[in-house]
Amino acid sequence: MIETTAPGKIILFGEHAVVYGQPAIAIPVSQLRTRVVITDDAPYSVLDLPDLGGQFPITAKPMEGEEPLMAAVREVQAYLGLSQLPPMRITLTSDIPIASGLGSGAAAACAIVRGLLRHFAQDATNETVNELVYNVEKLYHGTPSGIDNTVVTYEQPLFFMRGKEGKGVREAFTVGAPLQLLIADTGVKSPTLVAVGDVRRQWLDAPEQFERLFAACGEIARRARGAIERGDLLEVGRLMVENQAVLRAMTVSSAELDTLVDTALAAGALGAKLSGGGRGGNMIALVTNESQEAVAAALSRYSHNVLQTTLH
Ligand code: MEV
Repeated sequence: MIETTAPGKIILFGEHAVVYGQPAIAIPVSQLRTRVVITDDAPYSVLDLPDLGGQFPITAKPMEGEEPLMAAVREVQAYLGLSQLPPMRITLTSDIPIASGLGSGAAAACAIVRGLLRHFAQDATNETVNELVYNVEKLYHGTPSGIDNTVVTYEQPLFFMRGKEGKGVREAFTVGAPLQLLIADTGVKSPTLVAVGDVRRQWLDAPEQFERLFAACGEIARRARGAIERGDLLEVGRLMVENQAVLRAMTVSSAELDTLVDTALAAGALGAKLSGGGRGGNMIALVTNESQEAVAAALSRYSHNVLQTTLH
């Protein structure tokens, strides 16, 4: 039996602009995980997704409209040059909400790819896994920056800049003072593909305006890295508020996200912004020991799912 897991993620700064070459900051959320178990107790090869209530036979050739997670299996098949998988059951379960900006798709692909490579006793280095997961991301996001696959594969906080074929520049950074974050779900599902596609169309219509917005996000991400390294939490919070204003100008916020951001700030958060593709999904708020309880209580009036995570 092989068991692998992969974490969720949040983008602290720079989503969307990172697709256009600006730096962004992402961190793994290790308490939210996708798990894959591979056993050989099946008469044929099957992808078992109990959370979605389905078992999907893994056919030799990809089928029209097949279950999206099958793409991760196909990537490994192609990488290993296997025309058909031997009998095996690949069971995937996850506590990362889907289409919520928390990297559920990247984490699922990562756990499947890593599990299958291990099963076939193949090179499962982070570099190989990251490359294959990026290929899966491309199928679903169109033009992914590579930040999601990289942060869930390496499971490290990253200052990231897009590179060729998902091989972005990945820099680790120090954390001067722990960042206590609350993650609150709007409950609105929002596929990243749609938000990224809308931003692309707006950029094509008004390139200069959108490039100014992207550059502003890049500058915020650079300053945020410095503030995180110095442990200047007030400045990190201020920069989150600035980043949210730019994301709003890009039209990727939503009434629900704005309500959660305003609620967090009114209850004493140092900063708050959407995280990920936006239009729905999750928002994040920076809190302190003193404000955490009040902010969490205020957020839970509007959100059924408020989580806490700390970046050390
Ligand atoms: C999604 O988590 C982050 C986006 O910037 C898309 C991407 O970087 O591929 C919205």
